[in-house]
Order: sequence, then C-alpha cells, then structure tokens
Amino acid sequence: MATTEEGERVKGIVLAGGAGTRLDPMTRVASKQLQPVYDKPMVYYPLATLMEAGISETLLISTPHDIPRFEDLLGDGTPWGISIEYAVQEHPGGIAQAFLVGESFVGTDPVALILGDNIFYGALGLAEIVEGFTGGALVFGYPVSDPERYGVVELADDGKVLSLEEKPARPKSNLAVPGFYLYDGRVVEITKRLKPSARGELEITDLNRAYMEEGTLRAVPLGRGIAWLDSGTHDSLLEAANFIATIEHRQGLKIACLEEIALDRGLVSLQQMEATLSAMPNSTYRDYVARVLGEHRSEA
Ligand code: G1P
Repeated sequence: MATTEEGERVKGIVLAGGAGTRLDPMTRVASKQLQPVYDKPMVYYPLATLMEAGISETLLISTPHDIPRFEDLLGDGTPWGISIEYAVQEHPGGIAQAFLVGESFVGTDPVALILGDNIFYGALGLAEIVEGFTGGALVFGYPVSDPERYGVVELADDGKVLSLEEKPARPKSNLAVPGFYLYDGRVVEITKRLKPSARGELEITDLNRAYMEEGTLRAVPLGRGIAWLDSGTHDSLLEAANFIATIEHRQGLKIACLEEIALDRGLVSLQQMEATLSAMPNSTYRDYVARVLGEHRSEA
C-alpha cells in the first residue's frame, strides 16, 4: 500500500461520471469509461495507473445509471488484490465534487484523483512521487499542441507555479494539466470552501488554485517519452486504441492488464490468480494472463 513520507496511506478516486455526449450514440449503450480502448474497457487504464502508483484502496464515482455496470465489471477488486468501493454522483457538479461525494471514503487521508478517461503510458515514476509526497497538492504539466482545451499551468524556471487557468482562450504555456492529481488530507475541507464557477461546477482548477495561493501546489513537468492520451471524442478514442494496439503488438506485452500488475506488485498469490484465470472465458486477454501467470510460476 502506498504511504507518504509521513507514513500516511494514500487512497485513490477514479471519477467516471459525465454524460459522455461527445461520444453519442455509443454512450447510449455504455458510459464513456466503459468503451473499449483496443482490448479492454477504458476504466482499466486509470485503475492500472493507480495500482502502479501503489494505491490499493479505491473509490469509483459514477452516475446512478452507470454504477451497476462498473460494479459488474470490477466488483470489489479482490481478483487484483485491491479494494474498490463505489459512490454515486447524482448530478454532474464538476470534477472537484468528487471530494464531496467521496468525503466519507477520503476522510483526512491523502488522495490521488484520476479521471476515468485519462490514459497514461510510460515511466511516470508515480510510486516514487506518491511515496515522496509531503503535503499540499501535486499536478503534472504535459506539453500539448492544443492547450486551450485543458487546464493550463505556467511554470517559472525554478519550477514554481506562476499561473493556472481552465481552458484559457490565450494559454500562457503549452503545458496542459492531465487528469491525475494528488492532494493532502485537507482536500475535502478545502473543496467545501470553493464556490461554483459560472457554469455552476466545482472546478478542479479552482481547487488547485486554492493550493497554489497558499504556496503548496507543485507541478511536475512530464516530458518526452510519456504518453498522455485522452479518449473523449471519436477521433481521440480511435487514436488511443491504435496507440495501445501498436505498442502491444510490437512488444507482445499488454498495457494496463490489471492481473499482470497485481502479480508484479505481489498483490495476489499465484493460487489466487489461478482461480481468477480459471473463471475467465477464452479470449486473447485470458491467453495473456495465462502466459504472465506461467512466467511468474517459473520464477517462483
Ligand atoms: C478536465 C479539467 C482540465 C483537465 C482535463 C484533463 O477537463 O477541467 O483542467 O486538463 O480534464 O483531461 P474536461 O476534459 O473535463 O473538459
């Protein structure tokens, strides 16, 4: 389990809400985060990111309509040696609302929030970042060609955060803020002090700004060699799927295979994974899990 320098455990929230209307008519069948990204549902990717960060206590937040589908898919997380709880966001009220919906889950523990449509690939060093977290808030800055579509962070040469703006018409930098955020145990209390924006939502950028104003926001630039993909439009969804398929075919290794991460991180025993495997129907995904399990068995 991930603990910070102070030995506090870090929890995780996957926010998988929203109407996903930009993917209509597909989202009439299943919510955005349940859509396939090549060979697995989108939500596997952010869940894998949390697992790789060493976080094993997770809350998934979604709409009243979609929660049962997520529960069918992910259950309580036992096959992957993690715990998954669920909470309903009755009405879309902004990303920061996750901390009000998840108040009893978070309590006063540090927490990582990941958006259910954010896909990360590459050596982000998340486990080290989580372990080295000393409080305040932490965001990333990722260079993109269209920063006006995102939260944008401006950094001084010494890494100090100079400004943070949500979807600015004239971005002050090309660094978008990806949907992975780390907060200290005051996040619920600070969220409660936020005022809804002009569009009536509790904006994640306003929460980050509150930390910036007290001087405790850190922004870590992510450079080349890291892929941050979003998958909220038909084209970006296809591009993300093609990216995943390209790497997986080339390497013969899967990205975001939760069973593999669970084995690698020692979250489950070989016997437990054998039981999981025997309950899986035949598919190339199952073949992969069988192969990974075989490799772990021969190493044991
Ligand atoms: C949200 C945030 C934005 C962030 C983005 C990352 O935007 O408001 O700051 O950069 O997620 O995916 P949305 O995608 O909900 O418009």
